Amino acid sequence: MRKFLLAFLLLFFAIKSEAQYNTLLIPDTLSGTTFNLVAKDTIKQFFPGNQTVTAGINGNWWGPTMIFNKGDVVHINLTNKLQDSTTMHWHGMHLPAVMDGGPHQIIPPSTVWQPYWQVTNNAGFYWFHPHLHEMTEEQVNSGLGGLIIVRDAVESALPLPRKYGIDDIPLALTDRKFDASNQLVLDAPYGDSMMVNGTLRAQYNVPAQVVRLRILNGATERSYNLGFSDNRTFYVITTDGGLLNAPVPVTRYLLSSGERIEVLVSFNGQTGQSVNLMAYNSTLPAVIPGGDIFPQGTPFYNYLARKDFNILKLNVTAQTSNPITSIPSTLTTNVFPSEGSVNATRVVTLSDTTIGGPGAGPTFILNHKFFQFNYNDYNVPLNNTEIWQLTSTSTFSHPFHIHDVEFHILTRNGAAPPSYEAGWKDVVLVKPGETVRFITKFDDYADSLHPFMFHCHIALHEDLGMMGQFVVKNPSVGIVEGSTPVQQHAMYSIYPNPAYNKLFFNDGGTNNGIYYVRITNTLGKTMYMLPKPELQNGIDISGLPVGVYFAQVIFDKTFETQTLRFIKK
Ligand code: C2O
Ligand code: CU
Ligand code: CU
Repeated sequence: MRKFLLAFLLLFFAIKSEAQYNTLLIPDTLSGTTFNLVAKDTIKQFFPGNQTVTAGINGNWWGPTMIFNKGDVVHINLTNKLQDSTTMHWHGMHLPAVMDGGPHQIIPPSTVWQPYWQVTNNAGFYWFHPHLHEMTEEQVNSGLGGLIIVRDAVESALPLPRKYGIDDIPLALTDRKFDASNQLVLDAPYGDSMMVNGTLRAQYNVPAQVVRLRILNGATERSYNLGFSDNRTFYVITTDGGLLNAPVPVTRYLLSSGERIEVLVSFNGQTGQSVNLMAYNSTLPAVIPGGDIFPQGTPFYNYLARKDFNILKLNVTAQTSNPITSIPSTLTTNVFPSEGSVNATRVVTLSDTTIGGPGAGPTFILNHKFFQFNYNDYNVPLNNTEIWQLTSTSTFSHPFHIHDVEFHILTRNGAAPPSYEAGWKDVVLVKPGETVRFITKFDDYADSLHPFMFHCHIALHEDLGMMGQFVVKNPSVGIVEGSTPVQQHAMYSIYPNPAYNKLFFNDGGTNNGIYYVRITNTLGKTMYMLPKPELQNGIDISGLPVGVYFAQVIFDKTFETQTLRFIKK
């Protein structure tokens, strides 16, 4: 009788847990060259009972997937409808620093920020997320972020799956902590609940053919040691910055915060079967984020610590028409900068250092100093090819990330990186005692005012100051350091004034160019932030309420400012 009861209970729970799977949500796509994103506070029903207060972009969690074509100029209209200021960073994109959305491009509430840039990145999988200093963890945890897919001619010519949501499936992996009233614990570095695209206990149908999974580690701290429940081989085809030369077969892949891979998985002939994408984190040592175990009741305690857990259940269904059924043998031919062309080597140390008075404990920092908002760590001459040598004396592992560029890992502790890491990268996990050397070139974008960041991608570490910044300088333009800026007269005028829908600028024939226009109302509230506006088309002010405004103009090169008053009719 007892045995019977036990069997019954097991069956009951098996059925119940089956029923508990939720269909994976696939983010909507946006394509074209103009992208409207609205970040706002909202609510989402994660659990029965109380709704959860969240933030989302064009929705109630996370955001749409933006599809860019290499070569296009993409224009973003980011409206901040959050209660708080934010920034939006295009992680992995090569673009001008003033468009980068780092901690310096703060977007106040009810402000529209309009960055734009030409997409020069290789086809690959990128993402965007808030980067407000000391608030990144909280704002990312609240649900803000989104994916970017870049397409190009090289990738398009390959026989790869690319039916979005069918055989080409985006997976934004995160974990979150909820409190007893179903609210997100925004300052929790680790969550108790695994989430894919905002879906808890996700399952999804995949066709019986080769399927491409685009996987982002969007967690604020945890690394995921990815693998399948039947230990099948999967093929890594991209790293952070695009295609590898050839697919690399693996059975595990340790993906750290901020990193992306695209993998091919064959479900040929497996109709009716199921397999789980898992995090095999029980094998992680305590020095890898997610392998560390904390006592219950402490802020870092979490249910998933050093455990194997399910990420996504995949149910194999019928083949689609024109299926991809084989793994290509080659993908591309990457050309990395050569060591012979290196102009500078920079040594960055990652350490646990005690700074501050009595009672202060060691914190994770770079180069033995905390991030300072107005301190520039490096001046990088435009077109420099550099080796960055990351040396860790820290007791913990840190996913190091740099803005502006994709890099190529030369060595890990003196040895060539594994082939699945030998492509273009923008995040690299640096383990205790390790020295990682990468090579990169800082081309195209110089700006002596706005810096790019480098930091640990664990949001808490970054927020606490494990970050630095550098400016890319074009030695042949702009102010020479130490010299007096050339006096340039404020020459701009605005027309028409009053204006209706468009505002034009007359530069009085000086041809200076404008670096930035910020439009404020009479209370000083920022309404529009326009980095390097394309003035020939005028500035669209149709969204402004009728009234008096000020346009603060910052000139190119000299960064001299001029404020112009206008009336919106
Ligand atoms: Cu994904 Cu500086 O960040
Ligand atoms: Cu970034
Ligand atoms: Cu760190």
